[in-house]
Amino acid sequence: MLKGSARAHTNIALIKYWGKANEELIIPMNNSLSLTLDAFYTETTVIFSEDLTADTFYLDDSLQDEKSTEKVSRFLDLVRKMATCPLFAEVKSYNHVPYAAGLASSSSGLAALAAACNQALQLDLSDRDLSRLARRGSGSACRSIFPGFVEWQKGNSDETSFAEVVPSNGWENELAMLFILINDQEKDVSSRDGMRRTVETSAFYEGWLQTTPQDLASAKIAIHAQDFNKLGSIAENNALKMHGTTLAAVPPFTYWSPDSLKAMQAVRKMRAAGIPCYFTMDAGPNVKVLCLKKDAEKIKAKLRDYFATDQLVTAFSGPGITYL
Ligand code: DP6
Repeated sequence: MLKGSARAHTNIALIKYWGKANEELIIPMNNSLSLTLDAFYTETTVIFSEDLTADTFYLDDSLQDEKSTEKVSRFLDLVRKMATCPLFAEVKSYNHVPYAAGLASSSSGLAALAAACNQALQLDLSDRDLSRLARRGSGSACRSIFPGFVEWQKGNSDETSFAEVVPSNGWENELAMLFILINDQEKDVSSRDGMRRTVETSAFYEGWLQTTPQDLASAKIAIHAQDFNKLGSIAENNALKMHGTTLAAVPPFTYWSPDSLKAMQAVRKMRAAGIPCYFTMDAGPNVKVLCLKKDAEKIKAKLRDYFATDQLVTAFSGPGITYL
C-alpha cells in the first residue's frame, strides 16, 4: 500500500488564464498571475493498493459518480505512468470552504491530488515539476503549488509550462480578498467548456490575446512598486475583458447574474467614496474584491448594506502545498 496526503489552497487570478493552446497538455494561450488564499483549501489522501479493483473517489465523505471519478482516474493514469505503477487508487478529498458555499475549486482540488500522488508514489518532484503535473489536471491548479503572488508561464510544451512565485517583498500580506458569494440557479458553463467556446468562436478573443501580455507586465511592475491602485485597476480591467469575450462567443454566455452586477456597482461606489477596492470574477457569479488588509473590515461592513453577512467571506494571502 502506498499512501500520500496533502493540502492545497485555492488561488484567484488577477490576470486570468482564459483559453488553451493545447487541450491535452493544458498549455494556455497566455501567462496568468494569481494570489493564493488562506480561506479555502482542499485536503486529499490517496492510497494505491493491490486490494483495489477500480479507482474510487470520495468528496467530503460521499462516493462520487462515474463522471467525476473518471476525471480523477485520468489524472491517476498520468502519475501511474510516471511511476510505472499498475495499482488502482482510493482518493479521499475534503473541501474546506466556509458555509459550504459552492466554492469547491478545481485549483485546490487538483493541486492537492497531484501533491498527494507525488508523496504516495515517491515521485520526488520539485515544486516546479509538481506545478507541471497539477497543470495536467486543471490549468489553474499549477498556481496553487506556490504561496502568495504566482505567475503561470505559459511556455510552449509540457516542460516549459509551469508556475513560479512572483517576488513581492511580502506585500501580499498587506492585501485581502473579500468573497461575495452569489447563488444563482442558472446552469453552469464550466470554465473548460467556456474557454474552449470563446477561443473557437468569440470575435473578441483576439483583443484578449493582444492586450493580456501588457496587463501581466504592468501587474508585475505594480507588485514590485507595491502600487495597490495600479494592480487593482489592471486586475479589474483584465477580468472585465475576459468576461467580455464570452458575450461575443457563439452561442453567447455570461457568468454574471443580477447580484454580480450589484456587487460590481457597490465596489465602484466605495471606490468613488475614496476606499481603494477592485473586483474580479471567474467562471461563476461570485465577485471577489481585492483590497488592502487594513480596509477589509470597513469594506465588509459596507457590503452588508447589499448582501447578507453569511455571503461575505474574508481571505488573506495563503501558503503553497503542505504535505500532511
Ligand atoms: C476563469 O483551471 O478551471 O478561473 O484548465 O480547463 O481545468 P481547466 O480550467 P480551470 O480555469 C480557470 C479559469 C478562470 C481563470 C483563472 O483561474 O485564471
